Amino acid sequence: MTALVPINLKCENLTNPAGLNGLSPRFSWALGCPTRENNKQQTAYQILVGESRELIPGSAAIYWESTKVTSAQSLYIPYAGKALRSNQHLFWTVRVWDEQGVVSIAAEVQSFVTGLLFAEDFSAHWIARYFVLPAGREIPADNQYDNPWQARPADYLRTEVCVPKSIYRATAYLTALGLYEFYINGHRVGEDVMAPGWTDYHQRVEYQTHDVTSLLNSGDNALGAIIAEGWYSGRIGHNQRRAGNHYGGRPAFWCKIVLEYTDGSTQQFISDRHWRTKQGAICYSDFLMGELYDARLEMPAWHCVGFAQSTWQPVEVFSPEPNPPKIEAARCEPSREISEHCTQYLHQTTNGGYIFDAGQNLSGYVRLEMQLARGTKVTLRHGEILDEKGELYTQNLRHAVSTDHYIGKGEGVEVFKPHFTFHGFRYVELSSSAAVTLAKVKLTAIAIGTAMQQTGSIKTGQTMVNQLLSNILWSQKGNFLSVPTDCPQRDERLGWSADAQVFWRTAGYNMDISAFLDKWFEDIVDAQLADGAFTDIVPSRPLNPYRQSAQPGAPGWGDAPVILAWQHYLRYGDRDLVAKHYGALLRWMAHIAKDNPDYIRNHHVYNNYGDWLSVGPSSDRCMVATAYWVYIADIMAKISKVLGFPTDQQRFETLAKNIRRAFIKRFVDDAGVISGDTQSGYLLAIDFKILTTDLAAQAAKHLVRTLKSADNHLQTGFLGVKHLCPVLSDIAQEKTAYQLLLNDSYPSWGFSIKQGATTIWERWDGWTAEKGFQSVAMNSFNHYAYGAVGEWLYARMAGIDWDEEDAGFKSIIFRPIFNRDIGWVKAEYQARRGLIKSHWRYHKENIEWRISIPPNCQGKVVLSRRWRQFDAATAPLKIVEDDNTTIYLYGSGDYCFTLTAKN
Ligand code: BGC
Repeated sequence: MTALVPINLKCENLTNPAGLNGLSPRFSWALGCPTRENNKQQTAYQILVGESRELIPGSAAIYWESTKVTSAQSLYIPYAGKALRSNQHLFWTVRVWDEQGVVSIAAEVQSFVTGLLFAEDFSAHWIARYFVLPAGREIPADNQYDNPWQARPADYLRTEVCVPKSIYRATAYLTALGLYEFYINGHRVGEDVMAPGWTDYHQRVEYQTHDVTSLLNSGDNALGAIIAEGWYSGRIGHNQRRAGNHYGGRPAFWCKIVLEYTDGSTQQFISDRHWRTKQGAICYSDFLMGELYDARLEMPAWHCVGFAQSTWQPVEVFSPEPNPPKIEAARCEPSREISEHCTQYLHQTTNGGYIFDAGQNLSGYVRLEMQLARGTKVTLRHGEILDEKGELYTQNLRHAVSTDHYIGKGEGVEVFKPHFTFHGFRYVELSSSAAVTLAKVKLTAIAIGTAMQQTGSIKTGQTMVNQLLSNILWSQKGNFLSVPTDCPQRDERLGWSADAQVFWRTAGYNMDISAFLDKWFEDIVDAQLADGAFTDIVPSRPLNPYRQSAQPGAPGWGDAPVILAWQHYLRYGDRDLVAKHYGALLRWMAHIAKDNPDYIRNHHVYNNYGDWLSVGPSSDRCMVATAYWVYIADIMAKISKVLGFPTDQQRFETLAKNIRRAFIKRFVDDAGVISGDTQSGYLLAIDFKILTTDLAAQAAKHLVRTLKSADNHLQTGFLGVKHLCPVLSDIAQEKTAYQLLLNDSYPSWGFSIKQGATTIWERWDGWTAEKGFQSVAMNSFNHYAYGAVGEWLYARMAGIDWDEEDAGFKSIIFRPIFNRDIGWVKAEYQARRGLIKSHWRYHKENIEWRISIPPNCQGKVVLSRRWRQFDAATAPLKIVEDDNTTIYLYGSGDYCFTLTAKN
């Protein structure tokens, strides 16, 4: 009977990736133990990679048969077989040996496609509609629709190709400057939305890879693409002086289809001058404005063989300015439609519109199914919330119009779903140029987002906490769309770095964000300025909400990459990302140090936002900036240690020591009062371990005082919020931590939930009974930063925490804070090494607590001495005691404990 099974196999942080950038992809697996034995360990592994799914060792199809490697390593093992070529479809599996030398069955076979690896692979051309038409060609009619933003119609592109022989395999590599949908013989290729995603298109664009073997026929075939503006030339951000055209003026397309014939020969079809273009039913489609679709202009079968294309214009083959971007394989999961939500009709508004409720604030669009007469125009407006009169509240969308229009063709029930726009919404207002029979209207909300694996789940005995967990998850779903954005609804939708940084640890519990960061870190480095400054938003160039050049990062914002790199290492045990970008991190550290010789962070603080959007007294911005400097200097010392650079480690340790000293001197008085006397000031100083033991103890008292004087309510902004519950737990104020969690009066998480929130609000006072809506200038109802409490819910309420001493959850700290008001918690986290569980429940005076530790990992069960009794059915491997806690060490397996509190 085999005890170990390799599961959840990943290649380069992805499941079955198609298209890779390197020649030595890395393999990882988790381990399961179906026989539920304890203390299971991997002692050796063997990887097999080959050209056929059968993977017969020793056969000619095998590319790499590693030896039986004596090792417990199960993460990031680089390929070391025959040299890889472009466009290879390969398969792999692994088997492992346990501590008794018993070998597992081979893991379920997985696949990967290498992609385009060499310069000669990029023979295709960028093609687009002519800006200026060649003489004698059709001049497009002026856009006849109400379109004051001059959003562009989508361009349809087509060509026909001949397949002379029998195909073994066909692989399509597709991308666009803008967005694309691709079709072969009338069939849509893949299910991605908003492809190819957002990068700095002046530097880099990613392609998607699809196996299209089944779509091509022998003989004639039609290839078709629709391209639209997206992030490339459409509107994004809130700079009205430069609302769109950030990267260029017109979208373009690039593709290469590689055919492998059964006789061993190959052929390729590429985007080139033979393609033709025309505009069709998508009259415009823009992220912020919405889409106008006139079904009367559809060109049936335009993407099929034999379509008469005589009125279609030739495309222009051109070289994008300022330089053609590098074309690279997509590094993270594609964006997809992730769920559908039936809407409910609510009521008619005073202006005649019909309001529908999707029940969930989300990013996406609606599918309309309705019968309508030819020429009838249906308008769909989107909003996150209704006002007091039940009207759609859209003032907070600022310049985003977020309206889709559909003009019917009069052919039975018509189905419309926009192609190249998305909205942040819960409510939809439908109006029509003709009378509407509501019973015959079907509106379904469709959520989109980057399709990452959900890895975490928690349920508790408190409905409000469960709703909070759901709101956090939904704010992540709605804002992790190719890049992590601040919000999905208003004229912004930018990759604000501090928002991401404070939320990252929470995000990593919810979903597998490893590949997402692989991709975003490339964007971060693309955006880094020549003087080493990271930027406030990523992608950045040439987009900047304030000026025409990239905005260098403020403290807490520009610091984000250091924090993300370290968290990525701790969560996934992946040194490679940290090593790859170490140079970029060093440049940022040098940038800060340069003009701040007295270790107070006064210079290079740019738009120093401080503890953004806090309520109550404001924190001293220079203090916040300097505290963050200590934090990232400490992290850099740890990173240097992990990478084996002792000189750098020492340098950063000294730097951190100097900043600490300067911080105390400048910002802390003898009684431990920190400049500004704010909750966030104490939180940062305590959590970043800036203070001496004595001062820290005093600061803890001041923190409790500031909370009490706010009637035990939080006052923190974006930077402080994440530290609230963790610090309160660390300073033995667990009850207060839970009180903050369970508060439902303003300001608190519960307050927004009481108002019906289904996502995290940008502001604690997004809406209050006294003041109504906050300023229309900035009031999103889907901003994840305050959802940063999620990491505490996983790490301390449920008690599943990483251990810095052994990264990648090789060692797991189980340290829950039990609470009667919560009653019970059922938490699971699918770590890269395997499934971790922590379930606890009060039974009168006792707590029953069950945990699961995956094979090859170890658990540290940390308990405070206030438990009178700790009964475990299984004895720990080891017990370690310190002043206040006892740590029980366990190997892998399932364990059940009973705890009884002292009196
Ligand atoms: C964004 C934030 C961001 C902030 C910085 C806002 O407009 O929505 O989330 O961090 O600006 O000032």
